[in-house]
Amino acid sequence: MSSVIRLGVVGGARGKGFGHSLGSLKGRMKLSAICDLHPGVRAAWQKDFPDIHSFEDYETMLDSGKVDAVLLATPMPLHVPQSIAALRRGIHVASEVTACITIDEGRRLIRAVEQSKATYFFAENYVYSRTHRMIETMIRQGVFGEITYVQGGYYHDCRSLAFNQDGSLTWRGILRRDFNCHTYPTHTLGPIDRWLGVREGKDRFVSVMASTSRQAALSDYAAQRFGKKSRYANPAAFKHGDTQKLLIKTANGVLVDILFDPISPRPGNCAEHFITGTKACFHSNTPIPYADGMRAGPAIAFADKGKNGHYHWQPLMDMADQYEHPQWRRHLATAEKSGHGGGDYFILLDFANAIQGRGKPAIDVYDAVLWSAFIELSDRSIRTGKTLPVPEFRPKGKR
Ligand SMILES: NC(=O)c1ccc[n+]([C@@H]2O[C@H](COP(=O)([O-])OP(=O)(O)OC[C@H]3O[C@@H](n4cnc5c(N)ncnc54)[C@H](O)[C@@H]3O)[C@@H](O)[C@H]2O)c1
Repeated sequence: MSSVIRLGVVGGARGKGFGHSLGSLKGRMKLSAICDLHPGVRAAWQKDFPDIHSFEDYETMLDSGKVDAVLLATPMPLHVPQSIAALRRGIHVASEVTACITIDEGRRLIRAVEQSKATYFFAENYVYSRTHRMIETMIRQGVFGEITYVQGGYYHDCRSLAFNQDGSLTWRGILRRDFNCHTYPTHTLGPIDRWLGVREGKDRFVSVMASTSRQAALSDYAAQRFGKKSRYANPAAFKHGDTQKLLIKTANGVLVDILFDPISPRPGNCAEHFITGTKACFHSNTPIPYADGMRAGPAIAFADKGKNGHYHWQPLMDMADQYEHPQWRRHLATAEKSGHGGGDYFILLDFANAIQGRGKPAIDVYDAVLWSAFIELSDRSIRTGKTLPVPEFRPKGKR
């Protein structure tokens, strides 16, 4: 392998964010190839990056000798087969979310990673947000005291992404047609895992119970966009209830309360969190008075009410000097310019670090499969009405 990691981006839509963050990793990782089925997508990349190789077929790219690593930003159902194909050839993999759809797929992915010399890195960018990492530092330093409740929400009106122009379903629409569960759990669970110390073995997700509303929003949208007689205007065309709810218990008795809604027509929040501890609580989106008026943002309130005897929200970022995560302290200027609140840059940085022997993958295959397993677990819980045990995927001693 050359000393600079030659990266192939697979799936050029979401992949764009990474393409543009690569400039910050000069001398360590460079964009070598784009692979996408769509000629228009490939042409747009070659316009932006004239020196890269272009491939329509994924396996042809893997066998071309032009890439040492791939970043998979293809539709979710392709992540496991494409990861395994690369790992078997000794090519490093960073996979977009989610890592897998079923638990069986996840176990196959784990086996492939264990049998390969190549690195697998899970590109869950929400773990890296500045707010999330600052909270991680505060929790480590005991600012929250004993944590008993963590709420996490992802609600985002993605109805338009479920349909092609002609009214047929995209891969996202097919997921809504075929599954009634939380199909996108890793953005919410990744940060919570880090806060509770699950990767470090300090706590564990033990059980999950899921429930759902009925489906209405997606068929209503299809009726408005494609006509009342169109195929998907029928509410029975989709299994996916509009609002999904998961209640997870941890070994330390923390209640983790998850909301998921990718279809209702309302303002969204992809990273809503509420943390309750004995010494402080956090909310990701609380209205706070600033000099120029009220604005909502991440805020903390301490259990100690102070002199006026009232709880008082204060902006989290006021405490950045004290609690900024070391990685953010070091890379703030670069990360702030990168997509997804710095996440795209940190993913590439930690992927390069893992490949070049500067530590284990910061987000590894066991994290990836555990967080993604809540797709199937919530599906089974909703179908059976049962609380289900959460499997342990990480072998003992492998942290
Ligand atoms: N981490 C995040 O914040 C974030 C944000 C958006 C999307 N995503 C993830 O990124 C992935 C892609 O999402 P998207 O919104 O860009 O999807 P998309 O459907 O808009 O784009 C997928 C791209 O992959 C290409 N493609 C499909 N099959 C292919 C194949 N076999 N080989 C090569 N290219 C192929 C398509 O032509 C298309 O350009 C998904 O896994 C999604 O979950 C993550």
